[in-house]
Amino acid sequence: MERAHWHSRMGFVLAAAGSAVGLGNIWKFPYITGVNGGGAFVLVYLVCIALVGLPVMAAEILLGRASQKSPVGAFRVLGGGPWVLVGWLGVVCGFVILSYYSVVAGWALHYTWLAVTGQIAGLGPQGVEPLFNQLYQSGSLNLFWHAVFMIMTIAVVMGGVGKGIERWSRILMPTLFGLMVILLANSFTMDGFAEGLDFIFGFHTENLTRDGVLEALGHAFFTLSLGMGAMLTYGSYLHENDDIVSASVIISVLDTVLALTASLALFPIIFTFGLEPGTGPGLVFVSVPIALSQMTGGTFFAVVFFFLLVFAALTSAVSLLEVVTSYLIDEKLWSRSRAALVAGGVILVVGIPSALSGGTDLFGSSFAETVGRGRNWFDTFDYLATNWMLPFGGLGIALFTAWRLDDAIRHRAFLEGTNLAVFYKGWLLLLKFVVPVGIALVFLHAIGIL
Ligand code: PHE
Repeated sequence: MERAHWHSRMGFVLAAAGSAVGLGNIWKFPYITGVNGGGAFVLVYLVCIALVGLPVMAAEILLGRASQKSPVGAFRVLGGGPWVLVGWLGVVCGFVILSYYSVVAGWALHYTWLAVTGQIAGLGPQGVEPLFNQLYQSGSLNLFWHAVFMIMTIAVVMGGVGKGIERWSRILMPTLFGLMVILLANSFTMDGFAEGLDFIFGFHTENLTRDGVLEALGHAFFTLSLGMGAMLTYGSYLHENDDIVSASVIISVLDTVLALTASLALFPIIFTFGLEPGTGPGLVFVSVPIALSQMTGGTFFAVVFFFLLVFAALTSAVSLLEVVTSYLIDEKLWSRSRAALVAGGVILVVGIPSALSGGTDLFGSSFAETVGRGRNWFDTFDYLATNWMLPFGGLGIALFTAWRLDDAIRHRAFLEGTNLAVFYKGWLLLLKFVVPVGIALVFLHAIGIL
């Protein structure tokens, strides 16, 4: 069967941006910035994006385009040997990340429901605050919305590359940007704006911990969908002459701008209403409803915001499922429908402990708490996958591209279609030395050696 391709380069950029921009930007970045005390954490994160994320992004898309294969096959045809393990790690990450990602996306679905039925604006600030804990502790609600979200994700992936993923991204991404601008404009007018700004950009090094540095690196990978072959898989649906370099820059910049915009929209709200910035995963689900419940047109904005949160999550979840699905299609020769259904079904099941994390511990949390340093299942999956597996995968991708990949293939693939060819040498230097050394240093720092 002939390999599917994007209908246009624009379609690819939007789909890849759709993968990058997701819960990572709107839900996770603000909450981990809050937990890690703001400023210094944001700076480390930005450095990681520029020096590590961007070069790895170009490398991943390049490996995909050059091999026209999903991760496992890509490493096999381009270099073979033990490198195939990097591709395997990606498939495993797809399972792990999507299993809890879908639970959080389920929260967004629940809030969409609350907003549509008028329960957010109607309740007032005191009324909406406890909503999150009620949801978090309810196993049945979590399971229900997790299942609904997985079914949506499976449906898009079954639609295929052009008709499913690309078409949805074309509609959802521009809308998402428009809405962010409205929320940002709203936060400019709030009393807590200056305090919010200082929290995000003021340089508060005293708050930055060892785990904070690791988390900034991990999040750079997570937010750009790197280290597990999602960008590689999307790159494999590109044609030979599509420009990889400028696409990588556009995707990374869009993603970063969106994360900063989301924080700029949120922290002023948090400070205006005297909320705690470091409360963790519930941050967006508490602060935004509080603000919306007092704005004119609150119900309208609440509906739009949570719909968009769902859609941002959906275009990312689709790319996670696509990694597993394309593996089954390419390597096991399954049909797309069967691959998406089976992979999605298994992920739904793997997500059950995460869905039940907030409630009574059906699955016994002592293992999770040991491995995850006092975290429950949900946090443990996130901690291990984001902070360790993704950077480790990124290390493999950088080393492979810089040291193992045939020079002629690499050079030609980088130059094809781009007018940014002058960056080739710099890119290679980053991949050869800066990325591996940087990741190694952060790992050593995290385990306490540095
Ligand atoms: N980048 C997505 C986000 O920020 C998450 C993601 C990670 C998607 C890894 C695909 C692969 O929400």
